[in-house]
Amino acid sequence: MTEIGRWRWVGLSAFVHALLLIRYSSGLPLVHPLRAAVDRVNERGPFIGLVMAYSSEAQAVRSSGEFVPCSDIPMLDLYGILISTPPTPNNHVDFEFLTVGRAKMSLNAGITVQIVLDVFDVRGVVHFGIAGSANDSLSFGDVSVPKFLAFTGSWTWTKFNSAKGSSPDLFFGEYNIPSESKNWLSSIEYKTEELFQVGKEMQYVFWLQVDPEWFQVAENLQVALQRCVNETYCLPETPKVVFGLKGSTDDVFVNNAAYRKFLFEEFGVSTIDEESAAVLMTAMSPGVPAIVFRGVSDLAGGEESWSSTDLSDLASINAFKVALEFIAAIGKEKHQLMPKEMI
Ligand SMILES: *[C@@H]1O[C@H](CO)[C@@H](O)[C@H](O)[C@H]1NC(C)=O
Ligand SMILES: *[C@@H]1O[C@H](CO)[C@@H](O)[C@H](O)[C@H]1NC(C)=O
Repeated sequence: MTEIGRWRWVGLSAFVHALLLIRYSSGLPLVHPLRAAVDRVNERGPFIGLVMAYSSEAQAVRSSGEFVPCSDIPMLDLYGILISTPPTPNNHVDFEFLTVGRAKMSLNAGITVQIVLDVFDVRGVVHFGIAGSANDSLSFGDVSVPKFLAFTGSWTWTKFNSAKGSSPDLFFGEYNIPSESKNWLSSIEYKTEELFQVGKEMQYVFWLQVDPEWFQVAENLQVALQRCVNETYCLPETPKVVFGLKGSTDDVFVNNAAYRKFLFEEFGVSTIDEESAAVLMTAMSPGVPAIVFRGVSDLAGGEESWSSTDLSDLASINAFKVALEFIAAIGKEKHQLMPKEMI
């Protein structure tokens, strides 16, 4: 090799090395105590980030036996967000996934997803959890894989006596009993969100759509769901997976039959939760695919015979089963279609 050729080679390899370092370096500051651990974890990426909110959901992951944290760095506590790191893909799930907790309520969910995307080598976000039902055709234990999600907690509170606006409104007086009349609370008008995405103009959106390609993969899944809570307590029918419905997210725990019916009638919403839209929107901004699986644990108000605490474990387990099958399906696709694919 000539002298110039050699220097070119050294220069090129330094460049490639620098690229590799960039590829594997976390977004943490150099002095961050977890930086070395995060870099070690990232060497095994890209990962799927599995994001959940409630402890019953984390319990569903633990008790499934499908996720055994790696022995050297089983858990990273990043700003209070607990991130479990897997050892190697097992036989069933042909893809590594990080499990991420502390995403309860939309603010935390958004922050958590943003941190995970910034710090880890993550190629997509799978969010699963429990939800309240607003759709009478859904049964407890069913899992909804929504196509559209809206944040229904962003309102303009209108003045007394104001006329109906162009956006959907909720007039409190329409719910007065014994009969409809005016009400000092007047009405609330639902607002759109500002969606910022890399390389695009800001858009006002009400409905956020989950990743269409991932949704297609999910639609082809055949998952047997669990019917019994324990040996003596089983649901009347085997739960089902439903695809393509609408879900709503709000920083409110909805336990009110009138409001649940309003959301169903006005927006066609089937499930109500406190995180999904925030998880989706945060992933959409940098263009990372995301999908949502929500198990029905309760009726969002007005139920008589079932208590939601009885069924949240079953709903979490069923939602996790579908999420896991999805991760397995995506992993197989990765090997077939994109051997070195990155986000
Ligand atoms: C309610 O859920 C059922 C599935 O159980 C579905 O077929 C129907 O389209 C849903 N309704 C709406 C308005 O989305
Ligand atoms: C089964 O679950 C139901 C509902 O949570 C509970 O009331 C009952 O005590 C449980 N039975 C056993 C044997 O654990």
